Amino acid sequence: MTRLFRGRHFLDLADFSKEELLFLLDVAADLKKRWLLGECPKILEGKIVALLFEKPSLRTRVSFEVATRQLGGESFYLGPQEVGLGKREAVKDVALVLGRMVDAIVLRTFAHETVLEMAKYSSVPVINGLSDLHHPCQVLGDLFTILEKKGTLNVKIAFIGDGNNVCHSWIVAAARLGLFLVVSTPERYKPSQCIWDWAQEEAKKSGAEILYEPDPRKAVQSVDVIYTDVWASMGKEGELEERIPFFLPYQVNEDLLAFASSEVMVMHCMPAHRGQEITDGVIDGPHSVVIDEAENRLHAQKAILSLLL
Ligand code: CP
Repeated sequence: MTRLFRGRHFLDLADFSKEELLFLLDVAADLKKRWLLGECPKILEGKIVALLFEKPSLRTRVSFEVATRQLGGESFYLGPQEVGLGKREAVKDVALVLGRMVDAIVLRTFAHETVLEMAKYSSVPVINGLSDLHHPCQVLGDLFTILEKKGTLNVKIAFIGDGNNVCHSWIVAAARLGLFLVVSTPERYKPSQCIWDWAQEEAKKSGAEILYEPDPRKAVQSVDVIYTDVWASMGKEGELEERIPFFLPYQVNEDLLAFASSEVMVMHCMPAHRGQEITDGVIDGPHSVVIDEAENRLHAQKAILSLLL
């Protein structure tokens, strides 16, 4: 199985089969188990990873940097001021040059087209560290967290809030892995129709159930996991004031949790805007697993790097 990953890009969970995604999760679990025992196999010895980020980051940057170092490799960070991706220099040229010097590129950018172009011209694996369409590294870590906490992916998940990149990666993951996912967003902030239609076709093969329910109180009934994210991101931050009235009914708060199972687990990819999409009481409360979820980015990133490199 490991040979199937070598040299591939990691742009979208849809690029991987169900078996490959489950294998990535197995590797993440194994690497975490070994890390807890104080073992870090030096799988990346001699490898150099470039982190090319056009947007700020805590979890993605730190987890990739620490993962690379713990596995014996080295990484360096290129922020927006340094490269001027697509402005100072064409994406194609950056890809061609970096491909001669490093072993992998983690790219965090705005337009998903930039990720696709980088991958098209890069001779080394490109990892999508977030684009406007997908956040596959996040959702891989989230799947790992669900497996760790619930012992199975055979759970019901409700995504509450904005139909954004994280929501898209959840839809793709559910479709590929045959999961139950209910998406609850305001009508005008629904996920991409194109991704939705792809997922519904894919669900016919995988047995996934992917539903839309505009009422968040109905969406959280009888689910095992409630997942949320910020209400305005990826360059839409200036729309926040305009968005708030639409999103207020979708706040993950104590009132909403009253409609859910007493065992429900609450997840958030972070950074969280406390008092907006989630209240302090919920994010700091007994249902929340957000800090474990953030930690698991490290182990998921290790699995991705180990297999692609
Ligand atoms: N969830 C996530 O990607 O966090 P950062 O933006 O801090 O990397």
